Amino acid sequence: MSTVYKSVDGYPLKASCDEHLFQFRLTAWQHEPHSIEIMKGKQLMPRVVGLNEKELETLDILSMRGNKIMSDILYEGKSKIIYRGPNNESLIIRYKDTATAFNGEKKAELSGKGKLNAAISSLIYGYLAEHGVETHLIEVIDDATALVKKAEIVMIEVIVRNVAAGSFSKKYGVPEGTALKNTVIEFSLKSDELGDPMINESQITAIGLATEEELKEMTRQAFRINELLCALFAKTGIRLIDFKLEFGRYDGKLILCDEISPDSCRLWDIDTDKKLDKDRFRRDLGDVLDSYQDVLRRLQNVR
Ligand code: C5P
Repeated sequence: MSTVYKSVDGYPLKASCDEHLFQFRLTAWQHEPHSIEIMKGKQLMPRVVGLNEKELETLDILSMRGNKIMSDILYEGKSKIIYRGPNNESLIIRYKDTATAFNGEKKAELSGKGKLNAAISSLIYGYLAEHGVETHLIEVIDDATALVKKAEIVMIEVIVRNVAAGSFSKKYGVPEGTALKNTVIEFSLKSDELGDPMINESQITAIGLATEEELKEMTRQAFRINELLCALFAKTGIRLIDFKLEFGRYDGKLILCDEISPDSCRLWDIDTDKKLDKDRFRRDLGDVLDSYQDVLRRLQNVR
């Protein structure tokens, strides 16, 4: 039997198990320092019951097999919540429905956005992994939640541009939609406080945000990811205008972290130039969720 439970803070738990056993297991967790209380209609009564190995095996808590659930919130960002993972090498990320723009100045709740971004991002990360790009994604836990590798995030955003738009158009006076003669790679400092300012390579190495080798590796991966994504989106009738990547250090390597979704990309319909990304929210163009849904549907059709 597979049931979706929710913890008191809304954290979803999937369990494939006998409900009776599940209650026993949860009871055991009540004694852990990070234990959580589980709701399913009503709060379960804490009971102290020991389980044998066989009984424990019956419990197949997705992504948390044999581990304690530690649901502490480690960090809450504008569009995601990061929870402590089942072990020290992983984290749980939950996509929120909150849409923000202009460094949080504009904000709205768009019901269902979290699930759409989670689905789009995991589909894209699956595709990239198949093509040799190592990403942080371990396993999708539920519609809006994923288990990911706990990487040390490089505090730099890598922006890739194929077509002029957004801040590039504004800064350099190049009309939106102008094809660029070569792919542009930019770096910004990841800092909400400072408004994610653009930063160059010598500045990055000078203040120790990343080494020269790491910058080379992030640039190499960004070009490769761009090639792969342009090909994928082209099949769906979408032009990849630009996007943002984040990387993390894990196991001696740089891996792709965060998300790739309409929140972090500009995606235009190839035939009509209709914007299918967060610019619909930034610029009050309407149909935000319909457009995200359209992106998901198109990707699902080619995957
Ligand atoms: O605003 P700008 O034109 O520099 O954005 C370039 C791309 O990077 C866009 O696709 C935008 O959605 C993305 N981006 C992002 N997060 C940021 C800054 C930009 O996802 N903090």
